Amino acid sequence: MVFSPAAGVASALLLVTPYTPNIATVETTPGCLTDNFYGTYGGRSIFHLPPTCLDTSSIKGLSTQSASLFPYVANGERQLVWLQESAIDSSLVTPEYEAEVQGFFRWLGEDGYSAGGGQQLPVHQHLLSSADEPGVELHLVDLQPAGGSYGLIAIEPSLAPSIEALLPRYWKPYVLPKQPASYLPVPKPAIEHVKNLLETVRFDPVVSSLVNSISLNQMRDDIRWLTGEDGKSGIISRHSFAEGSLVAANWLKERFEETGATCELKTFLAGFAPNVACKYPASEDTTSTVLISGHYDSRGSFGSQRAPGGNDDGSGTIALLGIARAVGHSGLTFRSNVELIAFAGEEQGLYGSKAYAREMRGKDANITVMIQADMLGYHAPGEPPQLGLPMYIGTPEVAQLVSNMSAIYSPELTVGYSAACCSDHQSFHEQGYASTQVFERAGPIADPMYHNSGDLSERPGYDLSQIRSIAKVQFATLLHAAGFDLPGDKDLN
Ligand SMILES: *[C@@H]1O[C@H](CO)[C@@H](O)[C@H](O)[C@H]1NC(C)=O
Ligand SMILES: *[C@@H]1O[C@H](CO)[C@@H](O)[C@H](O)[C@H]1NC(C)=O
Ligand SMILES: [Zn+2]
Repeated sequence: MVFSPAAGVASALLLVTPYTPNIATVETTPGCLTDNFYGTYGGRSIFHLPPTCLDTSSIKGLSTQSASLFPYVANGERQLVWLQESAIDSSLVTPEYEAEVQGFFRWLGEDGYSAGGGQQLPVHQHLLSSADEPGVELHLVDLQPAGGSYGLIAIEPSLAPSIEALLPRYWKPYVLPKQPASYLPVPKPAIEHVKNLLETVRFDPVVSSLVNSISLNQMRDDIRWLTGEDGKSGIISRHSFAEGSLVAANWLKERFEETGATCELKTFLAGFAPNVACKYPASEDTTSTVLISGHYDSRGSFGSQRAPGGNDDGSGTIALLGIARAVGHSGLTFRSNVELIAFAGEEQGLYGSKAYAREMRGKDANITVMIQADMLGYHAPGEPPQLGLPMYIGTPEVAQLVSNMSAIYSPELTVGYSAACCSDHQSFHEQGYASTQVFERAGPIADPMYHNSGDLSERPGYDLSQIRSIAKVQFATLLHAAGFDLPGDKDLN
């Protein structure tokens, strides 16, 4: 890494580096990195270094391979947005998709990006405006068109919530905080707590019968309602800004409440559908809270009103609902607090979960384990049912816990890691909560209906029993982490 960009530049710099798990250990001047952190996105960490930190010695422990530096002054007039191409299987890279990406690059401005791949990227500072979208200005900082492409743009803040609509289908936006913040690692005692949970993992016949009570037929009915396939809900789209997402939110609230939960529709930003936040009370006097979640908003094809989101993320939503229904039928009580949340605004940049996680951190809520379910339904033809855990974002100990629970309660799943990343668990992880994601594949996304208006539940490759198997794992982990009693249990004591 060259640390004398445009000699004499005294302004602050953006530093984009490969993911660094423990940031505090690589800075030699305390605070240079840990107090100027914008977050980690798709395997890259971003910092905003003030002029006093530009001396190489401040951060000499950092891997300098493929790091990039850009002059950037945060002044509130621009919102930084990370654009990430999802980790996709090569089968999804069709000529149609490539044309879409090329068109997007052209729209950004042809010379606005350059191949990266390990070498120092030239600094790009282009202010672009598009004839197609008057008033849309993209200030392109860096864009790398190689596989798993990403880019960082600075845009007019009011455009950020709808930038998703302009992106190629497999690209997602991640809105950076307005200002860099302090790096909040998951505290050691919180990791210790998860390690203790890991040590006490063993087969429990009661847990086994509870997780096996999740009903496949009920899940089928639920997904058909949410996608609109059953013709009863009238839902055409659950896009965060669509009418259908409000219909879904109200329906989800009622369904969760039927199982004994108390739910709230929590609005986080005008124009967006709300988060559906549900709680079961603790039977013991404890602050400890276990949170499981999915996102009920969806995304369709460019130019189409239809966004059924059968897999992304109707599958994670029906997993939550399946778990809640099993809780309701059993009459169990949790020992610690339990929250089930269906987030909105995920596709626009994790808006719903960011607001929720920030609120939790603000109250110093004691969320001990958080598990997001996003895309559980698809695996390629001929592949066994799978469970994917995140390669980058999340707490490895929680992923290990989920993996061990899977071996016990859903041995039919082949467990592995996936580079597909950055769902709502990221919002909790960056607030210092132990968290992970469950995903459908031990590899990149292979669902040909990903971010497509054809994302229905009745189609080849959509595997409802895999969704149920992963829901069993999420449920078993919840039961183990929260503790529970069945009705009548207490009489035995
Ligand atoms: C959070 O809950 C865990 C598990 O019950 C407990 O060990 C820990 O002390 C709690 N932390 C706080 C800050 O209350
Ligand atoms: C959890 O899984 C790991 C890796 O497969 C294994 O080594 C370990 O023994 C398992 N722990 C328990 C408690 O099952
Ligand atoms: Zn999703």
